[in-house]
Order: sequence, then structure tokens, then C-alpha cells
Amino acid sequence: MEENDIQFHVREGVYPPAEDTFLLLDSIYSEIQGKVLEMGSGSGYLSVHLANRADMLIACDISLLAVKNTKENLVRNRIENSTDVLQTDLFLALADKRVFDFVIFNPPYLPADGNVTKEDRTYIGGIRGTEITEKFLKQAIKHLKPKGTIFVVVSSLADVESVWDSMRLLNLSADIINQKRLFFETLSILRGTPK
Ligand SMILES: C[S@@+](CC[C@H](N)C(=O)[O-])C[C@H]1O[C@@H](n2cnc3c(N)ncnc32)[C@H](O)[C@@H]1O
Repeated sequence: MEENDIQFHVREGVYPPAEDTFLLLDSIYSEIQGKVLEMGSGSGYLSVHLANRADMLIACDISLLAVKNTKENLVRNRIENSTDVLQTDLFLALADKRVFDFVIFNPPYLPADGNVTKEDRTYIGGIRGTEITEKFLKQAIKHLKPKGTIFVVVSSLADVESVWDSMRLLNLSADIINQKRLFFETLSILRGTPK
């Protein structure tokens, strides 16, 4: 789908597509196929772009506003038939038997530097910045096909080492497939595949 063909609207209070969103999309687009799950879909920018490459795509978000925004953007682009949108805290609402070829997450990845408000939860990943990512990885592995792939965004401002440790403990082969240096941080796209 050409970028110009896409109709897109971001609701107030929903994470707007940004450098991390675009980096993740560029890094994984050509690889995506089969059954795909996007965790933390926000406005649905990634899901709208990836749905055409997937046989079936499920977009999930903990925020009802984000779920509504993802749904309306899928409908706006007439790709709601092969897709489903769920409000869920990580994989809580997904049956154990649901497994995917690709599970992707641009998570809240920044470390907290004070009190975290409800609005901050779109980008604060915990005290170290990686707590949500680590919890996600533990659950994602149970919903991954044996030859499936996890893609996740991490920031150099967070405790990246603990994400590597989690992947190692979960017996995932992990590598960095792309990086982008920004003014104040470096974003990396990590790939995890079962050994
Ligand atoms: C950095 S935004 C990414 C949004 C969108 N995927 C993008 O790349 O533009 C992170 C998203 O994860 C969602 N999120 C945070 N914690 C979550 C959880 N426990 N379960 C599901 N989604 C969560 C937030 O509501 C937010 O929409």
C-alpha cells in the first residue's frame, strides 16, 4: 500500500506515530507474513501498514481509546476483515492456543523519572524502562510458533541489558536488526527467535 493511499487519524491522548514507529515499520515490513500480533497498537499505524502483508492480524492495546483509534483506522482503510482489535493488558485476553508467526511491540520503553500519570503510560516502561518489555517477552514466547519471531523496540535510555538477559533466559536467539541515533537516545529494533 502506498503511503499516499492511507487515510489516517490520531485521536488526542493516543501515542502519535513517531521515529520509533517508523523505524520499526521500515525494519520489519518486508519480513512480515502469516499470522501477526501487534501488541500496543496505539493509533494503529503499524497494524494498518502490516495488515496487507499478513494473512491475519490482531492488534492489542491496554487503552480503550487506542483500541478505538486502531479500529477506526483499519475501517477507514477498509482492512478490517482480516484483522481483529482487542483491549487487553498484554496477552491476558488471548487464549493460550493462539499462536503467531510474528509478535511485535513498540512498547512504552522510557525509564520513569518521577510519578507516572495515566498519560505517561504510553511511553514509560517502568523504573528501568524495560519492565513492561520483560513481562511482554515472558508472555509472548507462549504465543509464538516454534519458528516465529518477536520484534521489540528498545531505547539506550533504558536498561537494555535486562532485555538481553530476559531473552537469554527465555532461550531466544537475539540480535539487533536496525538502529537509529536520535538527538538524545539510540533506538534499536531487537529480534528474538526460539533456539
Ligand atoms: C510507544 S506506544 C506505541 C504505539 C504504536 N504501536 C506506535 O508504534 O506508534 C505504546 C503502546 O503500548 C500500549 N501499552 C502499554 N502498556 C500495555 C500493556 N500492558 N498491554 C497492552 N498495551 C500496552 C500503550 O497504550 C501504547 O498505545
